[in-house]
Amino acid sequence: MIFSRAPRERHDAPDATAQSPESAAPPSTPSPPAPSPLPDLVPLTAEEIALMRASVAAVGPYAADMTVYFYAILFARYPEVRGLFPDNLDVQRDRLLRGLLQIVDLVDDPENLIRFCGRLGRDHRKFGALNGHYPAVGECLLASLARYAGPAWSPELAAAWTHGYGVVAQVMMHAAREDARTAPAVWEAEIIHHLHRGHGIAEITVRPDAPYPYTAGQYASVETPWHPRTWRYYSPAHAPRPDNTVTFHVRAVAQGQVSQGLVYSAKPGDVVRLGPTQGDMTLDPRSDRDLVCVAGGTGMAPIKALVEDAARTGTERYVDVFVGARTAEELYGLDDMLRMSQRHHWLSVRAAVSHERIAGLEGSLPRVLNEFGPWYRHEAFLSGPVDMVTQTSATLARQGIPQERIHFDPFDVPALEAALLPRKLREPPED
Ligand SMILES: Cc1cc2nc3c(=O)[nH]c(=O)nc-3n(C[C@H](O)[C@H](O)[C@H](O)COP(=O)(O)OP(=O)(O)OC[C@H]3O[C@@H](n4cnc5c(N)ncnc54)[C@H](O)[C@@H]3O)c2cc1C
Ligand code: HEM
Repeated sequence: MIFSRAPRERHDAPDATAQSPESAAPPSTPSPPAPSPLPDLVPLTAEEIALMRASVAAVGPYAADMTVYFYAILFARYPEVRGLFPDNLDVQRDRLLRGLLQIVDLVDDPENLIRFCGRLGRDHRKFGALNGHYPAVGECLLASLARYAGPAWSPELAAAWTHGYGVVAQVMMHAAREDARTAPAVWEAEIIHHLHRGHGIAEITVRPDAPYPYTAGQYASVETPWHPRTWRYYSPAHAPRPDNTVTFHVRAVAQGQVSQGLVYSAKPGDVVRLGPTQGDMTLDPRSDRDLVCVAGGTGMAPIKALVEDAARTGTERYVDVFVGARTAEELYGLDDMLRMSQRHHWLSVRAAVSHERIAGLEGSLPRVLNEFGPWYRHEAFLSGPVDMVTQTSATLARQGIPQERIHFDPFDVPALEAALLPRKLREPPED
């Protein structure tokens, strides 16, 4: 097994105030020094990987208890890290531990390991994770595994986890260090417009305090002043703008910590923080395939961004957009899309309504998609509720679009799901 070097990512926003995980870069440095090489990584053996996988399976049934235990010992042994985590660790509190356990799915896949743990490391700058925290987290991970793996825990297993965790931690720390040369850890972004669009959806426009680089179709992480250190993902609803403003479409989720604040409390003048963007649901400029895009709810945001991107680059690809909702009233964002289709001959927009009988708008998205097409030569982009994306993806796969041409964002913990997706795609599709 060979570990290659992490590819350097493009950064459009050199920033003299960038903070490295351990220390601030000297502000007077005219240009960032040459990238430092990734330390040599010793690949894991097949036995180590097998041991790690077996232990994850063994602790699986105790994941909830193990999460509580992990945080309890982490905060007891290293109280200084408590301040990095949200006050309310009840919602989505298993993210970090799940992430730590899922690294076993990456350790025998060096390309993905370096690509995605690199991203994770860069993204961890926004949490305030420092190099010195990695041994603490590793120690508590091993202690939790030891407790819940029971008799299966052995010196060999401990050595395998130490090795696996060490490799991932090195990749993450290196990526964070490199990123700190050219990009801020977070962007302070003032809300300059806030518009209610009905059905608990708000359009929120912010102006980041420094150039905010992203590619149309990616998503950003957002932290609000009402729930510090609680980060959630939202997709800019447009291609990058010259004035550096960014508009998100946010739907308030019942009892949602971040979405409720953004929809109902936020007003112009408030400041949110943005982390770096992520996501691979972007247009490949080398492809000339026609596109089929399917959007439900605020899933319209990245689809609109992709369509704008296609328009900006003078596309010669035909783009078919399907917008779905339960009722006609909930058909969010359709008007914007229809206006765009009047300007661009290559763009067709159709709607599907699943819970109402309206001539021309009838049916669930998968059913309506089946009526049009064929789609087997297209590139597909799907965005919306999990069920919609899953069903639509299956419909398009049945129509002959190979999985690697069906793009959608991860549903839950993006950094990890994105990493594991290529592996899932290699597995035989289910019926
Ligand atoms: C890649 C990606 C892109 C996203 N883009 C957008 C976007 O552009 N616009 C947008 O509005 N949202 C988007 N989301 C969802 C968003 O990140 C949050 O998950 C959502 O706003 C809820 O966060 P919260 O803090 O308000 O709720 P939480 O406090 O996290 O959750 C509160 C309760 O609501 C439940 N819950 C969480 N999310 C949902 C949901 N979607 N539907 C129903 N119940 C839920 C939780 O299980 C919990 O019980 C995206 C998510 C991902 C992974
Ligand atoms: C190999 C090491 C690590 C791995 C694989 C890892 C993985 C992850 C993952 C996958 C997430 C979820 C990210 C998301 O929601 O998008 C996460 C969140 C987080 N991580 Fe790490 N992490 C590691 C080390 C660390 C360290 C050393 C710290 C510093 C104490 C840290 C602090 C955090 C914090 C504060 C969060 C947010 C938690 C929350 O929102 O509930 N992580 N980590």
